[in-house]
Amino acid sequence: MTKKSKCEFDEYVCDILENKYFLETKKDLHHGTSKYEHSLRVAKLSYKLGKFFKADLRSVSRAGLLHDFFFGTRKENPENSYLRHPVTASNNAQKYFNVTELEREAIKTHMFHHVLIKKIFPFVNRKEKATIKEFKPKSKEGWIICLSDLIVSIGECERFQFTYAFNVAVLLVFNIILFKN
Ligand SMILES: [Fe+2]
Ligand SMILES: [Fe+2]
Repeated sequence: MTKKSKCEFDEYVCDILENKYFLETKKDLHHGTSKYEHSLRVAKLSYKLGKFFKADLRSVSRAGLLHDFFFGTRKENPENSYLRHPVTASNNAQKYFNVTELEREAIKTHMFHHVLIKKIFPFVNRKEKATIKEFKPKSKEGWIICLSDLIVSIGECERFQFTYAFNVAVLLVFNIILFKN
């Protein structure tokens, strides 16, 4: 990131990074790192992808940073589960940072690729309920958060690399099918 980009990025997210509730995410383990570090990586990558795809940079930076903004781990309560935690994070982002509707939706749909996986393989996370209609990204910014989270997660979860690489392939194939016209 160039110095100018770094300044711009910092300006978009500094209030979140200094917030005492967001700082709580430093205590939560996520993909073998802290949720804070993971979220910051996703936000930075979202900003870079946002520049490339000419998206709303403020929105992708903030939604990237808040996409996993829930307290505790995904196993601790049903609201933080594998497919429901985006809804919890989206509600928390609204409650603590009054995010825009665009940012809120982008946070809520960041696990779309996992919803697709579940549709293809229903035995995965059998107890979870999630529909494609509810969790399909509705904006360019939403797709960027989804892709960015996936790419960062691949790097963080070395032992799940094959699974995540497979997810990426499925996501890309579906993108091509859905947007070929
Ligand atoms: Fe997540
Ligand atoms: Fe994430």
